[in-house]
Amino acid sequence: MDSRELSLANFMKVDDVDIMGRAKMFKEFLDDTMDKKHSQYRRVSLDGSGPIMRVQDKYTGDVKEMVYLASNDYLNLTKHPRTIAAGKAALEKYGSGAGSVPLLGGTLDLHIELEERVAKFKGSEAAIIYTSGFGSNAGTLLSILQENDIAILDMLVHASIIDGCKNTNTKFFRHNDMDSLEHALTRVKNKYNTKLIVVDGVYSMDGDIAKLDKIVELAHAHGAYVMVDEAHASGVIGKTGRGTPQHFDIEGKVDIVAGTFSKALGVVGGFIAAKQELIELLHFYSRPYMFSTAMTPQAAGSLIAAMDVIEEEPQLREKLWSNINYFKENLLSLGFKLGNSETAIFPIIIGDDWKVKEACRRLHEMDIYVNPVLYPAVPKKLARIRMSIMSAHEKEHLDKALNALETVGREFNII
Ligand SMILES: Cc1ncc(COP(=O)(O)O)c(C=O)c1O
Repeated sequence: MDSRELSLANFMKVDDVDIMGRAKMFKEFLDDTMDKKHSQYRRVSLDGSGPIMRVQDKYTGDVKEMVYLASNDYLNLTKHPRTIAAGKAALEKYGSGAGSVPLLGGTLDLHIELEERVAKFKGSEAAIIYTSGFGSNAGTLLSILQENDIAILDMLVHASIIDGCKNTNTKFFRHNDMDSLEHALTRVKNKYNTKLIVVDGVYSMDGDIAKLDKIVELAHAHGAYVMVDEAHASGVIGKTGRGTPQHFDIEGKVDIVAGTFSKALGVVGGFIAAKQELIELLHFYSRPYMFSTAMTPQAAGSLIAAMDVIEEEPQLREKLWSNINYFKENLLSLGFKLGNSETAIFPIIIGDDWKVKEACRRLHEMDIYVNPVLYPAVPKKLARIRMSIMSAHEKEHLDKALNALETVGREFNII
């Protein structure tokens, strides 16, 4: 099997074979990507997230020290002394697990403290916490939207949002295009009980920011609600890191603020911040909340500290932004195309799966850790190298990456 001709899309649905037959075919595809040194997935880190990562190279068996440009740990809170100390204290006090689902004994006073801290951080009445951001988005949407409702989605929203809309009607609008959103709102007028516009605050593959102020205006004019997924925005944008509503000075005007604890907050889990009565509904109808054991004490403890750090140590965000500006200026002056990137996420759009795979192979050899993003994750003409940077990157790390990118850019006629 030649993986050059194929993509993950070819194995999503395979006719006339059973599951083992499908798995065997997919394994042949993966083996060929290994032979071509195009398999950059599940690289094994020996010491966790940081600006430099020690990686066990699956091709040579050697341990490589790589400049790590693939983390969502934007403020490096995974290794912050305050998040570690708070996590350790919670582990010592409550033990390693919560012991039950939240409704049936698993709710700790620490979980309540975290919910209140999230509500304060997001400026909302109340919040609910989940053990995953994916589960929090999907579980919330699946429980609140019914067959007489409609979700109006930016075409680039995260997969967790798309999966969450399986019980309801959906309509997509062109990415961050307000005319297209207005058109969609006009078309669905008076037909549904609830119209809910769902967008990401910062888009995970493009790094651009939703026009949330305009979206809220349009929603009000058309009797719709708004939900924003703050996964890549919390801690990164807004004057004190509170995310997209703060960035646009519209805090309190977004009906449902969703987010993950796994990116700038440096732990794991997700949350919804909204009106108290909506949160109560989720306690009893959101299945990933009700039927899944409550968050570990260590995660909850670290997360409370993470929000304190975000608000009390602005120098971390300032350093991140100085890195973003430095990296962006240099990439643009080298001639790379970065789409509409406005935050710590940098797509280098190449538009050719093969070139992206080859470029990532070369960058791996040069100890630069980036990720390929290929069809069907993005349309073929938007295949890209995706990079993200952190506050703990130093100029020397970014310069090493820029030199390697320049070499690869010339080798593959990208610049
Ligand atoms: C925009 C967005 N929303 C939600 C999620 C899911 O979050 P988690 O990784 O915490 O499950 C992700 C994570 O990849 C994401 O990028």
